[in-house]
Amino acid sequence: MTEISPETGTDLDYITAVGPSEGTLPPRASTPVTTADRVDLNGTWQFRLSRSAVEAERRELAPDSGDWKDIQVPGHWQLQGFGDPWYTNADYPFPVDPPRVPATNPTGDYRNEFIWDKPVEGRRWVMRFEGIESIGRIRLNGVLLGITRGSRLEQDFDVTDHLVPGANLLEVRVHQWSAQSYLEDQDMWWLPGIFRGVSLLERPDGEIGDLFVRADYDADTGAGTLHVETTAPAWISCPELGVTGRLTGETIDLASVDPWTAETPRLYTVTVVRAEETRTLRAGFRRVEVRDGNLLVNGRAVQLRGVNHHEFHPERGRAVTPADLEANIRTMKQHNVNALRTSHYPPSAHLLDLCDEYGLWVLDECDIETHGFLHQDEEHGEWTAPWKSNPSADVSWKPAYLDRMRRMVERDKNHPSIIIWSLGNEAGNGENFAAMAAYARRRDGTRPIHYIDDVACEYVDIFGQMYTEFARLDEIGRRVDRIDPTATADTAQDIARRKLPYIITEFGHAMGNGPGGLLDYRELFEKYDRCQGGFIWEWRDQGLARPLPDGRIEYTYGGDFGEPVHDDTFSIDGLVFPDGSPSPGLLEFKAVFAPIRITVATAGDTVHIRNLRDFAALDDVEFRWTVAFDGVEEASGVLDVPALPAGESATVLIPETPQREGECVVTVTAVTRAASRWAGAGHEIAFGQAAGQRLNPAPATVPSPGLTPVDATRTASITLGPARFDAESGALTALGGLAFTTPPRLDLWRAPTSNDLQVGQDTSAARRWLKANLHALDHTTLSVERAGDQIRVLTRVAPLARSFGVHVDALWSLTEDPEEVRLQLTATPFGAWPYTWPRIGLRFAVPAAYDSVTWYGYGPGERYPDTRSATRLGLWSSSVTDLQTPYVVPQENGARGGLRHLSTTGGVLRLEVAAESEFGFTARPWTSEELTAARHHWELVPGPETVFTLDIAHDGIGSAACGPLPLPADRLFPRATQLRARLRTVRS
Ligand code: GAL
Repeated sequence: MTEISPETGTDLDYITAVGPSEGTLPPRASTPVTTADRVDLNGTWQFRLSRSAVEAERRELAPDSGDWKDIQVPGHWQLQGFGDPWYTNADYPFPVDPPRVPATNPTGDYRNEFIWDKPVEGRRWVMRFEGIESIGRIRLNGVLLGITRGSRLEQDFDVTDHLVPGANLLEVRVHQWSAQSYLEDQDMWWLPGIFRGVSLLERPDGEIGDLFVRADYDADTGAGTLHVETTAPAWISCPELGVTGRLTGETIDLASVDPWTAETPRLYTVTVVRAEETRTLRAGFRRVEVRDGNLLVNGRAVQLRGVNHHEFHPERGRAVTPADLEANIRTMKQHNVNALRTSHYPPSAHLLDLCDEYGLWVLDECDIETHGFLHQDEEHGEWTAPWKSNPSADVSWKPAYLDRMRRMVERDKNHPSIIIWSLGNEAGNGENFAAMAAYARRRDGTRPIHYIDDVACEYVDIFGQMYTEFARLDEIGRRVDRIDPTATADTAQDIARRKLPYIITEFGHAMGNGPGGLLDYRELFEKYDRCQGGFIWEWRDQGLARPLPDGRIEYTYGGDFGEPVHDDTFSIDGLVFPDGSPSPGLLEFKAVFAPIRITVATAGDTVHIRNLRDFAALDDVEFRWTVAFDGVEEASGVLDVPALPAGESATVLIPETPQREGECVVTVTAVTRAASRWAGAGHEIAFGQAAGQRLNPAPATVPSPGLTPVDATRTASITLGPARFDAESGALTALGGLAFTTPPRLDLWRAPTSNDLQVGQDTSAARRWLKANLHALDHTTLSVERAGDQIRVLTRVAPLARSFGVHVDALWSLTEDPEEVRLQLTATPFGAWPYTWPRIGLRFAVPAAYDSVTWYGYGPGERYPDTRSATRLGLWSSSVTDLQTPYVVPQENGARGGLRHLSTTGGVLRLEVAAESEFGFTARPWTSEELTAARHHWELVPGPETVFTLDIAHDGIGSAACGPLPLPADRLFPRATQLRARLRTVRS
């Protein structure tokens, strides 16, 4: 048991103590199944919140005023009506003056009176706290048991001598801020409280004690070894393996075992028996090594298609339930995620059980981040200055660092899913980390060690960085990287580090619309054996739910609770929305990182199938094909594909398909044959598609020699077949019976995405667009001319106060169809454009009654230049409302691409657009300006119009909110462009 300092409890100094927990028992492996008794203490407790520790103390000494309220444990008090949450990324929300913390220190006193009716004779009882943020002072029946330090770490107290039959009073005092807060500066909401479970665990007489399972697998021979080490000797058996009554401590050789992998999560049930106790655990046989420059599992280099997972629920914060966690894991598996980093702290032990069962590679990360110490450039508030006073390099903090590592390794050591230990996140470098690494290596030599800030790789086994630029990743892949990119010669460290595998611990920052460019990462991962994938930042938008007066829910972010210092929308950066539903970013991830690559030949007669799994064959997968003409399915079937082993590929014939008029599209999908824990039968894993016949480009329209200027002083409007134009501006005001509420005109603006904004950065794309006044365009008509069958309108579209712009030549002509007009719009930039355009498109609006669309093009979801993998060519319909992606922070969204034709219905009439060049569209119940101005999704209110934009092009998405810009090929640099389309209205 750790000592309790004699002073603890006599004053409040324990709040600023930098040491580890006090009064706790040594940590042990979690073993959920045991015959030992267990009593759950969760539920409704009594609670009192004080402004400061001193106030809490004073209230405690005064006669009980009875001002106790009910609270749920586990839970955060701020999410139960006591005070407000606070969001910061790297900044400490208090002065950086370790180990001191503010006097205003919200302090929660918890009381739980419980009746004890269990026998106490001849057995010991332990009280377990699975998570208290930030520290907890624990008293049972007036006796101080100790102090918990390390918010996301399990802490046990021996209560045998303090439990009494009948009523017992458990008192826990929790301080929001403590010296430990300096070690817990993760990018997330500060949410204090007893947020994980509290229980009493029986330790029977002659108990087993701690338990360490080593289940090794030799991929060359298929043999395994099982070694179970316990504090007290015990008997182990595993009937499935023919092991019965063997003594712990021995190494048991097994001639043949099925290995555990994330693709084949085979677990064996092992029972461990001693005297009065039997424990049941699940062993997974696998071997993890760093060898020949790669991270190998069972002898094979694995690809991590991973996500960074914070424990988060919009109502419960980090007090997540087993059901919340399981829902996450199922969604991950359904979207081809195969790895999880427990950013940035050990998760609830239940999550790791689920990873063992469902199959996910896990990087288990310790609960340490001191990011705020990097923020030392006082004058400019920039992160340019070196780390100063960082606890990581201060030996007085070493016991705390070691205690945290020890608690993680000891609790989690038996999970086969954990293949890497991570020492923490963004806490700089220092000898305390080297000591943690040494501890883990000594205690558990079976897993490599990772830590982001050991850039030189002095004590880690894996080189892992975040948000690596593509060019740098390429260097790393070629193993020519230098720590100092400006250096002209290699150092010994460079040479040593290049022998290590590379994992991008964070990439593809999924903030708002995006991440873009995942395909560019995939290319590099596939090109270089050293690049073994990585983890998207991050799994879920951390937006806390708050009810609006009208009953709707708003998702909040930094500043929404009046925090004086905060990091705004930076917590809204997940692949799933706060409620756990997939955002388009997750669909893109699923398509890009699908473990099966399906390439349909352009002729549509063969398909090439590659099994990109690391271990499993494809015998669980069925391949289905369909042939559609102009979006209408004509034939379908199941392909005869051999059960390709991992890494193998084959080309398979697609049966002869019918011939019809129209665009022929062949789609092949890979679906699950049978239902599993995480998906039903027929769940799609991957798809591939080829369009046999591309869009038939119509010949260019040539301006008629008969065009003559229109005199707008004499006529207000002019007509061309079914189309009416304003004579002065040349704008199309009506087509057939449909009057445009906003006539079509060129648009260059889009509501900046989180990536365009690069929150807080002066050089962001959005800032540059604003500087160029792209949100304030003047449209001046230079001329309107007409001939019998044509109208030509020349316009200058230019930002206010700038000398660059775009000349627009709109040539309208008649077609054979009397209901129809053809538009050929040519946009030619002039002047010295400084940067990209957000988009270029033709915007118009019709009455809001036009609230649904049907299109033949790419769908069903959104698609931008560098997020185009998840969409497929087909015939789609949607309400305008459903075309909107409900990003928590309103921004450009919902673009559909590769349009062939589009129609929208408003009751009596239907407006139809047939594409004769490559373009897409957006349709919204609000304008881009309203979308730009809104700060939360709920602020968007449908207006009187449906606003369409026929998008010739969009700037790429990238992930510059934290990471690289889109690659140049995906950027929209000003260039001459053309849009050709036929438009008509018909009765619907
Ligand atoms: C990283 C950090 C994450 C998160 C991310 C940006 O630097 O490790 O916790 O802050 O940036 O969203």
